[in-house]
Amino acid sequence: MDLKNFNKKSGRLVRRWATFGRESIEFDYFLPNPLPDMKEFCNNISIMEKSNEANRAIGELQGLTKNIGNIDLFTDPYMRKEAVDSSEIEGTYVSLTDVFLSEAGSKKPEFTNPNVREVVNFVHSIGYALEQLKSKKKIDKELLNTMHKFLLNDVRGKEKLVGKFRQQQNWIKSKGATKDILDADFIPPSEEKVEELMKYLFDYINEKDGFMRLIKAGLVHYLFETIHPYEDGNGRVGRTLILLYLIKSQILEEPILYLSPYFKKHKEVYYSLLMEVREKGNYDKWIKFFLEGVTEMAINTSKKVKKLIDLYEEYKQRLKKVNATQISISLLDKFFESPYWFISQLQGELGGENYPKTKRGMKYLVETNIIREFTQYKRNKIFVAPDILKILEEDLI
Ligand SMILES: Nc1ncnc2c1ncn2[C@@H]1O[C@H](COP(=O)(O)OP(=O)(O)O)[C@@H](O)[C@H]1O
Ligand SMILES: [Mg+2]
Repeated sequence: MDLKNFNKKSGRLVRRWATFGRESIEFDYFLPNPLPDMKEFCNNISIMEKSNEANRAIGELQGLTKNIGNIDLFTDPYMRKEAVDSSEIEGTYVSLTDVFLSEAGSKKPEFTNPNVREVVNFVHSIGYALEQLKSKKKIDKELLNTMHKFLLNDVRGKEKLVGKFRQQQNWIKSKGATKDILDADFIPPSEEKVEELMKYLFDYINEKDGFMRLIKAGLVHYLFETIHPYEDGNGRVGRTLILLYLIKSQILEEPILYLSPYFKKHKEVYYSLLMEVREKGNYDKWIKFFLEGVTEMAINTSKKVKKLIDLYEEYKQRLKKVNATQISISLLDKFFESPYWFISQLQGELGGENYPKTKRGMKYLVETNIIREFTQYKRNKIFVAPDILKILEEDLI
């Protein structure tokens, strides 16, 4: 913390002793205040404008997704893209191809590497939370802890506590880790405060009040990252929490808006504005940045969805022209869900279609340049739909 600028608006520093190894160290941790009243933001014209813009952009995106018959064709691959981007912010670099191939069950060693497994775990973790939200309609400790368990299940950081709030003091260093808490840029609340602070956050999240929910989403992310309730995974769980909150509070009907590409592009600003809230109580600047991100990503996602819809229509026309079989259309859907498939898997996905029929259906997709062989395995070939993959991979359009 930059103590010269610390004005105690968003919290206070609390002195404590803690033992690290054999050493006992005295330091100050940050104890955040309750989140500010919404009135603070209502009087800020620029924030109100940005909030309206963001709502408008989300509205457009929702309108677009309403016209899609099977929305899973877009949300499933898109969730994988988010898992890749959110992990990249934390220094885990994995390509979208790695994730798709790993999920398709490719046994090639590069697809079973720990980084890929971590991102695939993340996909399960988001999927689990979204499924739970459908019936549960509440975001609570159990939901987040289970997500955390899925995320860090059997990967690096195994020695860290998984599926539970931390039971020791942690600290954040912007550039590179430090073993010395006294070198930290930020020291989150003591482990003894985590339970109580998270309870406050869950109550805030689950409040019925539907007023200014986008602004609240930004505040929720700030407070979650400030509490830093887990030993690891706070960045990824905290960004997923934004999506869960938007769905829970009915801003979003589908899991189609993710902010990680924006945070990735502005990582330094992202971190420093969170710090500015802690040091100077500058909620406004953070909220503006957050709302701009929502707008940018909603507009971007709309463009992406439009591109995918156009491609889908074009592909259907191509298949019609060559009098392709009905199976080809079902196969086409599958390639929108995931751009990589083993032919054997597709057979199963089509409800156990026989091999010759599936193969013939695939032939039409190859002939029309929708898919091509990705591997040269003799027995079980992998096919890829390169143009679909390219659109999914694009960061900002
Ligand atoms: N210098 C910083 N200032 C503010 N927040 C930071 C800073 N460094 C890291 N963070 C926050 O901590 C998160 C990383 O915490 P961590 O528990 O390691 O999450 P993950 O395991 O998902 O990487 C970042 O995404 C960010 O939200
Ligand atoms: Mg980490």
